[in-house]
Amino acid sequence: MNPTATPVHVAIIMDGNGRWARQRMMPRQAGHRAGVRAARAVVEACARRGISHLSLFAFSSENWRRPQREVGALMRLFLEALEREVDELHGNGVRLRFIGDRSSLSAELQARMAAAEERTRDNARLVLVVALAYGGRWDIAQAARALADDVAAGELAPDQVDEAHLAQRLALAGMPDPDLLIRTGGEHRISNFLLWNLAYSECWFTDCLWPDFGEAELDAALARFAAVERRFGLTSEQLVAEEGEDAC
Ligand code: FPP
Repeated sequence: MNPTATPVHVAIIMDGNGRWARQRMMPRQAGHRAGVRAARAVVEACARRGISHLSLFAFSSENWRRPQREVGALMRLFLEALEREVDELHGNGVRLRFIGDRSSLSAELQARMAAAEERTRDNARLVLVVALAYGGRWDIAQAARALADDVAAGELAPDQVDEAHLAQRLALAGMPDPDLLIRTGGEHRISNFLLWNLAYSECWFTDCLWPDFGEAELDAALARFAAVERRFGLTSEQLVAEEGEDAC
């Protein structure tokens, strides 16, 4: 148990915007707008707590199947949020990264995403990863395809393909795996988020609907994270022995 441990990388499945709106007799779109406000507050809260990587699942590969009207409204919301927030994110030392199948997004959104990434590329306080048109299976498949290309080009032998090579081709290549996954909205599922990278993440599920998620809920998740022992497949005795070696 390490009561002071702060995760390096927090990943969040933001669920519950629609129900939040319905509870207030408002259109789903109002829930999504409130969701953007909650995302903004959580980015700031994570930066203040010294968390260096935050990944937000904003739109999944499966979300394309929502009614066309909702998908269109969400895409406009992402575009507006990008326009509005990038200056302040940049000013606060946040580096923006996007993961997902960009080719499925509009040319305008793709261009704004690339510009935001370029503008914030040297910021180091917090890396904010926004998953848009992202699916964990898509990610693993595109990594496998990239490795197959390397093999076909004679740059890699088939028997050299290992976990490290595959990880280098995933969307989060070069970033630490999430230590903590938070999912709001009451469901206990990973829903095709970072399937490979979440292998050893601690999971925190809360009934809180995403627009209601704030500092108190984040702190509850962080407190639980600090209290658990992460064994990565080892026994408790091995961990105690390793800690003893580290202290020497
Ligand atoms: C989850 O609620 C909502 C989404 C996955 C859509 C988009 C997320 C946001 C607008 C939050 C802001 C994010 C960024 C990074 C700008 P839901 O619609 O699935 O809710 P329900 O389960 O209650 O219907």
